[in-house]
Amino acid sequence: MAGGRVQGKIAVITGGARGIGAEIGKILTAEGATVVAADLAPADGVPTAAEGGPAAYRRMDVTDEASVRAAFDDIAATYGRIDILVNNAGVPGPIKPSHEVEEKEFDLLFDVDVKGVWLCTKHAVRHMLEQRSGSIVNMSSIYGLVGGAHIPLYHAAKGAVRLMTKADAATYATSNIRVNSVHPGSIETELSKSLSAAPSPEAAAYAQRMLDNTPVGHRGTPEDIAYAVLYLASDESRFVTGTELVVDGGYSAV
Ligand SMILES: NC(=O)c1ccc[n+]([C@@H]2O[C@H](COP(=O)([O-])OP(=O)(O)OC[C@H]3O[C@@H](n4cnc5c(N)ncnc54)[C@H](O)[C@@H]3O)[C@@H](O)[C@H]2O)c1
Repeated sequence: MAGGRVQGKIAVITGGARGIGAEIGKILTAEGATVVAADLAPADGVPTAAEGGPAAYRRMDVTDEASVRAAFDDIAATYGRIDILVNNAGVPGPIKPSHEVEEKEFDLLFDVDVKGVWLCTKHAVRHMLEQRSGSIVNMSSIYGLVGGAHIPLYHAAKGAVRLMTKADAATYATSNIRVNSVHPGSIETELSKSLSAAPSPEAAAYAQRMLDNTPVGHRGTPEDIAYAVLYLASDESRFVTGTELVVDGGYSAV
């Protein structure tokens, strides 16, 4: 049920064009925020404001500092402030063991999943420091909490996001800027489909193993993650910073 849990706040969601990011945009909008969806992908799939989608779409490549700086400066100039940043854009990277990964594959994964979080934080925080408030939510993964053989470098990248979150939480706490991470289990999106569909024996077993190891017995939906982000983005979580919110149907509990 829609309320006003983030009423009047200005929110930027990276990777907001589809999957989990699009659902976060929908729910933050329904709860009263003005949402800018920022994505590398074209705006084609992004619902319009009239359809319950974000107030605006902004093309941004999180790996490119000039693109990130320009986007955050434009958004701050247009709306006057930036209250919420959801660092959601991410890629799974190569589905192969470390010794088979090419340098360019490593660089792309870490550019999007790690450098992208840092760059967007850097350029959003400049505005949050001026207004002395803000909430940053970083999308990690249960794979940022434990290791695994399927996509080893993704674990490394999401683990980096987890600790960047805690370090930034400590750094900006006295400026009234909170930084938290969300750790989804297996969620039905294009990204998780690509992991299950890859042509390797590990990938073939992946989907079944995820289900077998999830006590609730099914995958999550983007909405399940969006409600966790809503809590951390809202003032309801004003005493919460540097935490890791796991949303995984019990996967990491057993
Ligand atoms: N789906 C899952 O099971 C799952 C589980 C744990 C964590 N996650 C994380 O949740 C986040 C969202 O995943 P999803 O499943 O919705 O993925 P998705 O592939 O459906 O969406 C990712 C979005 O990020 C955008 N993006 C990619 N590179 C970008 C760049 N350089 N600049 C700007 N935007 C870029 C894509 O265009 C896309 O719209 C990711 O960080 C992912 O690692 C997903």
